[in-house]
Amino acid sequence: MPLFLWNEKYSVGNARMDRHHKKMLNLLDKLYEAARQGQGQNVIEDVIKKLGDYTQYHFQEEEALMARINYPDLPAHKAAHQAFIADFEKLRQDIHRGNVDHAEIKLSNMIATWWKKHVLKMDKQYKIFIKNQNKQNQ
Ligand SMILES: [Fe+2]
Ligand SMILES: [Fe+2]
Repeated sequence: MPLFLWNEKYSVGNARMDRHHKKMLNLLDKLYEAARQGQGQNVIEDVIKKLGDYTQYHFQEEEALMARINYPDLPAHKAAHQAFIADFEKLRQDIHRGNVDHAEIKLSNMIATWWKKHVLKMDKQYKIFIKNQNKQNQ
C-alpha cells in the first residue's frame, strides 16, 4: 500500500494540475519505497532525477496556467517554486556526492513538508481564485 496516496481533498480545482500532483506523489512514493528496500545509489538517484524533472515541468505548466488567468499572486508563487528547486538541487547534489546520511529520507521528508506547505496551501489559493473568476463570468 503506497505511503503517499492521492485524496480528493488535495484537489486544486484543475484536472490537469491534479494529475501532475498525483504523479508527483507517485514518484515520491517510489523514492520512499526504493529507500525502504535499500536499493542502490543508482536506483535512488534515478528516481530523484525523475522527480526533479517532473517537478520542474509541473512548475512551468502551473505558472503558465496562473499567467493565463492573470493570477495576482504569480510572482510570489513563482519565487516559492524557485526556492524549492534550489533546495531540491542542493540536496540532490549532496546525495550524488554521497555527503548525506539517510539522504532519500531527508529528501522525501523535505518534499512531504513542501507538499503540505505548498500544494495544500499555496496551490489551493489559485483554486479559490479560479472559482471566484468562474462565478463572476456566469
Ligand atoms: Fe503544484
Ligand atoms: Fe505551485
